[in-house]
Amino acid sequence: MEYLVLNNGVKIPQLGIGGFGQGADAITDALHMGYRLIDTAAQYGNEEQVGEGIRASGIPRSEIFLTTKLWTDDIRRGRTCQAFFESLDRLHVKYVDLYLIHWPAKGFVEAWLEMERLYKEGYIRAIGVSNCHRVHLEQLESFASVRPVVNQIESHPAFQNQELVDWCMDKGMQMEAWCPLGGTYGHVLENQEICRLAEERGKTPAQIVLRWHMQRGMITFPKSSHKERMESNLDIFSFMLTEEEMERIHALDTGHRMGADPEHFDF
Ligand SMILES: NC(=O)c1ccc[n+]([C@@H]2O[C@H](COP(=O)([O-])OP(=O)(O)OC[C@H]3O[C@@H](n4cnc5c(N)ncnc54)[C@H](OP(=O)(O)O)[C@@H]3O)[C@@H](O)[C@H]2O)c1
Repeated sequence: MEYLVLNNGVKIPQLGIGGFGQGADAITDALHMGYRLIDTAAQYGNEEQVGEGIRASGIPRSEIFLTTKLWTDDIRRGRTCQAFFESLDRLHVKYVDLYLIHWPAKGFVEAWLEMERLYKEGYIRAIGVSNCHRVHLEQLESFASVRPVVNQIESHPAFQNQELVDWCMDKGMQMEAWCPLGGTYGHVLENQEICRLAEERGKTPAQIVLRWHMQRGMITFPKSSHKERMESNLDIFSFMLTEEEMERIHALDTGHRMGADPEHFDF
């Protein structure tokens, strides 16, 4: 496993397991295979199962990097602290490693200030944002006393979001890619060029895409509930893509996002 360092000095595994839709067994399996980063959210409705999977693994809490997120309804209703402690209860943990604003709903700046308090009180090792554009981050900057450590955004070969990635990295944020494989309904893994690269290198299309993310400095957490896929998705640290291979993937950007636009979402 490779690790990156957040702007507050906390170490984070570069590759983890996506928590969306995952049950306790998948989380336990992932931990036994060597995954150490779990990405979940209150909105996924499975924090209890994630906590159960962690406990069943027998792996010390201190060895696991656990992320969860504050949902938009809680931001709008001004209940950041309550929502956070509800997440802790469901996860059955005393702290989380990373807590994120899931989407920048109205009131996210006030929510951030509450997250800063929880961070300073030691309930969270690092705080960050998700789905924030430059406009949101600039808004935050004028009120915040703690800088976000990450911005978790949609990013995959068909929608690389590179301008935002570069801008945030310049500001000292680490970048996390959601839907790294193009998501459940995407077609990234069937893309001809990705399949050609996979064949040339004797790897799976998913391994090629995940390796590309690693080499562009992203943190990511593909979701799979199949053991053999989880295993092969983790097995990407023994080969490197060449610059030319990286370029072939960079060339696949369509500029079309799959998910909602952070400046126009209605949930
Ligand atoms: N912050 C946000 O707003 C946000 C939004 C979306 C997602 N996320 C986070 O990002 C994580 C990952 O995103 P995602 O789950 O949407 O998409 P993803 O990881 O890009 O893709 C998941 C899909 O790829 C399949 N898959 C996984 N490994 C594979 C392999 N080796 N070969 C073929 N297919 C494979 C999975 O199927 P099987 O499960 O059947 O293997 C699933 O259908 C989520 O779990 C969540 O933690 C965050």
